[in-house]
Amino acid sequence: MKHQMANRNLCFFLILLLGLNQSSVFCWKKDEFRNCNQTPFCKRARALKPGSCSLVADNVAISDGELTAKLISKKQDNQEDESQIKPLILTLSVYQDGIMRLKIDEDPSLDPPKKRFEVADVIVSEFPSKKLWLQRLSTETLGGDASPSSIAYLSEGYEAIIRHEPFEVYVRDRAGNRVVSFNSHGLFDFEQLRQKKEGDDWEERFRGHTDTRPYGPQSISFDVTFYEADFVYGIPEHATNLALKPSRGPGVEESEPYRLFNLDVFEYIHDSPFGIYGSVPFMISHGKSRGTSGFFWLNAAEMQIDVLGSGWDAESGISLPSSQSRIDTFWMSEAGIVDAFFFVGPGPKDAIRQYTSVTGTQAMPQLFSIAYHQCRWNYRDEEDVVNVDSKFDEHDIPYDVLWLDIEHTDGKRYFTWDRVLFPHPEEMQNKLAAKGRHMVTIVDPHIKRDESFQLHKEATQKGYYVKDAGGNDYDGWCWPGSSSYPDTLNPEIRSWWAEKFSFQNYVGSTPSLYIWNDMNEPSVFNGPELTMPRDALHYGGVEHRELHNAYGYYFHMATSDGLVKRGNGKDRPFVLSRALFSGTQRHGAVWTGDNTADWDHLRVSVPMILTLGLTGMSFSGADVGGFFGNPEPELLVRWYQVGAYYPFFRGHAHHDTKRREPWLFGERNTELIRDAIHVRYALLPYFYTLFREANTSGVPVMRPLWMEFPFEEATFGNDEAFMVGNSLLVQGIYTERAKHASVYLPGKQSWYDLITGTAYKGGMSHKIEVSEESIPAFQRAGTIVPRKDRFRRSSTQMANDPYVLVIALNSSQAAEGELYIDDGKSFEFQQGAYIHRPFCVLGRETCIVKPSIISSSR
Ligand SMILES: *[C@@H]1O[C@H](CO)[C@@H](O)[C@H](O)[C@H]1NC(C)=O
Ligand SMILES: *[C@@H]1O[C@H](CO)[C@@H](O)[C@H](O)[C@H]1NC(C)=O
Repeated sequence: MKHQMANRNLCFFLILLLGLNQSSVFCWKKDEFRNCNQTPFCKRARALKPGSCSLVADNVAISDGELTAKLISKKQDNQEDESQIKPLILTLSVYQDGIMRLKIDEDPSLDPPKKRFEVADVIVSEFPSKKLWLQRLSTETLGGDASPSSIAYLSEGYEAIIRHEPFEVYVRDRAGNRVVSFNSHGLFDFEQLRQKKEGDDWEERFRGHTDTRPYGPQSISFDVTFYEADFVYGIPEHATNLALKPSRGPGVEESEPYRLFNLDVFEYIHDSPFGIYGSVPFMISHGKSRGTSGFFWLNAAEMQIDVLGSGWDAESGISLPSSQSRIDTFWMSEAGIVDAFFFVGPGPKDAIRQYTSVTGTQAMPQLFSIAYHQCRWNYRDEEDVVNVDSKFDEHDIPYDVLWLDIEHTDGKRYFTWDRVLFPHPEEMQNKLAAKGRHMVTIVDPHIKRDESFQLHKEATQKGYYVKDAGGNDYDGWCWPGSSSYPDTLNPEIRSWWAEKFSFQNYVGSTPSLYIWNDMNEPSVFNGPELTMPRDALHYGGVEHRELHNAYGYYFHMATSDGLVKRGNGKDRPFVLSRALFSGTQRHGAVWTGDNTADWDHLRVSVPMILTLGLTGMSFSGADVGGFFGNPEPELLVRWYQVGAYYPFFRGHAHHDTKRREPWLFGERNTELIRDAIHVRYALLPYFYTLFREANTSGVPVMRPLWMEFPFEEATFGNDEAFMVGNSLLVQGIYTERAKHASVYLPGKQSWYDLITGTAYKGGMSHKIEVSEESIPAFQRAGTIVPRKDRFRRSSTQMANDPYVLVIALNSSQAAEGELYIDDGKSFEFQQGAYIHRPFCVLGRETCIVKPSIISSSR
């Protein structure tokens, strides 16, 4: 949710002026935010010319099972030159399953003014044990080169290579074909930290804010090339296509680079490379001939990434193997080090498994949290809550969770209740719980600076707030007015924060209450770009600029730990977060923030959620109905129909919108929304099984078509349709009064319409008639989908209902599927308390399942 009521007036004003009802474009306050040209490191990096890197790899050797080298500058002439790069330390290591890691940092023996920040707590603890100890290094001069290259084993089919001069790192397969490469265009640049001298003026100003930049400019940039790639995907979070359009190059309409900088963007527009609430610096490439590869840069500072159109380097004189098609990209970051991971794929699911073996897989959610959530800013008081709750029953619409936004608190002091509006919070929650329902309340990171607020007093006394550049508690403006922010980078502060969720500390909370973290980018209304100043200080002297994109991640982690602790580690947590970073999937769910009630935002929600899924974050959704504005009933219905397939399914609306609970739009629309929500409840067993798959393998619940059909080019750019698991294909309807939809059904097998059972041939497009009743959705022949078809008030009340298996036979009269069941709540599944039952039908006979695959249930 968001601030700035003043903006609304601007919107209305412009609507009148321009006579348009598509208001959102005019409300994005573009000037509040920097573009690349206003961002010194980005501007400098974009001006670099290919081949400008003058580093060579020296002293290449093996030590401690890793390859090490020094990067030294070839320019020997002017030792005093400030721009001269002091030697850098490179280490390259390899891990099981086709993962190569490259680190480049300053040389500690040369006494840099400070240690550059390395993001902690993102790489999972098991990962280091997967390191393969390099033993041998061969040095050869490879085709056409003047200087030698060092070659190390990476995996069965791949090798890691460092070319010494010019310096370049790449992965190639045994046949000699390149897969991913680093610095092939010589754009690597590393600005080292400096000690301030008399007369140095490093201050940087933007819209009245000054950044002191105490260590001078400290950016890093480099190029990364993906070979045999038709498209690149990933690097959320942006409101844009699934396949990333080039941002620079001949014949390309030059745009801003894709920005990764967590920001609270008021009314974000639906097609833009602009950075919004989250950042995952992981890119994935895919092509028909080779498959998939990936590149991940673990760095939490502001990042900007260009996707380069072919021919952008025409004048550079650099030649790469011309037999291989490729996509070049250019990565720039303001701070941190190079800590980069290369993934060889070669299948889409392989690349995601490899990435999630570094950053973790999706936490297994509680079953209730994958059902329908009802939210609004705000359900006013207890009576409102009771009314909304009972209306769901009256209209026979199931739902599982009712949400309370910021107004439920006592003056935006989180962990408190407005006792006039909510005098009996426990009783209110218990009433919901009696129907198997849950409640979620909001807890944001801005803490009201109010001497009578215990939380603030404690945080102040203990010195637990983020500090400003001068070393005082940072004081910014947010919902409560003057606010400070807990420094959750510090593990001690995280554990203090986690304690606040105990039933004793959070007065009025009960075991059926869960949490929502909003505004954790962090949002600061009076800060530069509406966030915290880059020179604010964290634990260990870390500057905010180095950590920014991970601030919300740490806050989310601490909150999620709190919910585990309060139940003595028994129940799985549920915490929804707006800000996100690599690894967020281990801590809970995310959503795409403050979208708008228009068709374009409905449309873009699909690629946004698909992209999050590609980067390991399965548990995501978009506000159904659109947060800002009032959806026409038709749009709202279509949104429920698509939203029923989002992994996270929640209706939500802004304070100033009209009420829009499902029964407020006449009987017919109530019926249509009820049907849409019923689809989700029927499919809960299937979704839950898919969440377990995401939990064990990283493969997302909602998938792009090409993930299941990686050799079908027709699917590569398709982001209007999506797969739910490997069995269902869903096509959203994104226009008003649609009568038909063109739907591409991939593969050789038939597809069955979920409602009518009509069969359609695969491998072609179909013009399908569309009614208001549903959106096109199909089950693939050869699959078995588990369902529960009895409708109850909530998912919890369906626990003992019978399962239905929907079997769609393929042309050899066979089908396969699976069902995962556990208690839906606790961690006991990790001790084997679950049933994971594969099903198959083979040539009209049910096949025998090996008992070994079935784990014991309690
Ligand atoms: C699955 O989710 C649980 C949390 O619910 C987590 O502890 C675990 O690491 C995840 N991954 C696997 C492979 O179980
Ligand atoms: C039909 O499905 C079965 C089970 O998944 C599979 O083994 C078989 O290859 C499929 N047949 C065809 C023709 O795709």
